[in-house]
Amino acid sequence: MHYLIQPAVIRDADVTVPGDKSVSHRAIMLGSIAEGETRVRGFLAGEDCLATMNAFRHMGVVIDRPGDTELVVHGVGLHGLQAPQGDLDLGNSGTAMRLMAGVLAGQSFSATLTGDESLTGRPMQRIITPLSQMGADIRSRDGKPPLEIRGNPDLRGIDYALPMASAQVKSAILLAGLYADGSTTVTEPAVTRDHTERMLRSMGVAVESRDGRIGIQGPARLHGCDVEVPADLSSAAFVILAAVLAEEADILIRNVGVNPTRTGMLDILTAMGASISPENQRNMGEEPVADIRVRSSRLRGIEVDPALVSLAIDEFPVLFVAAAAAEGTTRFTGIGELRVKESDRIAAMAAGLRGLGIRVDESEDGAVVHGARFTGGEVESFGDHRIAMSLAVAGTVADGPVTVRDVAAVETSFPGFEACLGAIGADIVRLQEDPA
Ligand code: S3P
Repeated sequence: MHYLIQPAVIRDADVTVPGDKSVSHRAIMLGSIAEGETRVRGFLAGEDCLATMNAFRHMGVVIDRPGDTELVVHGVGLHGLQAPQGDLDLGNSGTAMRLMAGVLAGQSFSATLTGDESLTGRPMQRIITPLSQMGADIRSRDGKPPLEIRGNPDLRGIDYALPMASAQVKSAILLAGLYADGSTTVTEPAVTRDHTERMLRSMGVAVESRDGRIGIQGPARLHGCDVEVPADLSSAAFVILAAVLAEEADILIRNVGVNPTRTGMLDILTAMGASISPENQRNMGEEPVADIRVRSSRLRGIEVDPALVSLAIDEFPVLFVAAAAAEGTTRFTGIGELRVKESDRIAAMAAGLRGLGIRVDESEDGAVVHGARFTGGEVESFGDHRIAMSLAVAGTVADGPVTVRDVAAVETSFPGFEACLGAIGADIVRLQEDPA
């Protein structure tokens, strides 16, 4: 499956994008181990979150789906999950695997977590080490999936300093901490997304968070609640950049989550000269949201502040496109974590941009992107949703047609991506067969 993007005029528009992936995963996981019902609205019906939903159904949780983006999770309480029959296949989703490992660590049964070719190549030692210290027994293939998790109903709390900034690892430890005796504390080297902490609080768990230390007391019972999922800023990012790069457009994206642990991309683009204003700021439950207005602007190259990396971790592919379209050079540093995402995102974007006529100098944990015009061309997504969508955005301002190969993974996070880009005027079609 590939995209063909042809030059077209991006125009004024008022659009929405699907629900937040991180919040949707957590609504199912926390709703499942809560007592009572959790009603979810604005759920992301993408493959990653559906994999999480199916996994919990396989552990005996009843999850009704009265609408495409509406769920009712009938919580079974901390100790109500049942041993699944067979392996739990989490597809492409690192979040599903790492967070579920935390939940499974505290069970009185064993379960095996597996996934697709990308997921089974990703590092899991980062969760195996702390969860083992808490008392779980986890077997892996040299630190990679499949993970066989032999739960331990007598987990011990730990005080753990994260070696890398990772909300997934932080969340895995906190979720195991719900089951553990005593206090569990995680110290992070940089602020990462705090959706787990916020949703735990909505469900009645006391979470302390101060100076990069996050702590809970276990065992902790959760109470089901209503969750309204904001639109995903990480999906809005593609529309935001397409609007910025357009000749003359004014685009409003509604109800977007603007949790400050996620908005690094807005700060980076603003520093590059983009006109982006959050309007109508309000809260949806524990999460802040806004309508984001974007006006076309001229971008200039900058040195990207490494302090913003963990606050924009999923937006670097699209930021590479911004850098390529900017005047001058942009230097990214401290982004080594991108090499262990759904693909090696530094290498994938360097290859994609080079295929569209852009010079990129790559280093182990950074890149320098030299701004220029995009030529047309044929480029690869490496099976990574965010690479596919980022290169499609480059195609909206290229000098010729752009083909992006192997784009099926876009369904993991942004069902309806082509229609959304079409709604702002882009000429994008998805074709079944990859070109010869
Ligand atoms: C996520 C955390 C991030 C992010 C991922 C979703 C989450 O990963 O890249 O897409 O929902 O916790 P890390 O925390 O491992 O960087």
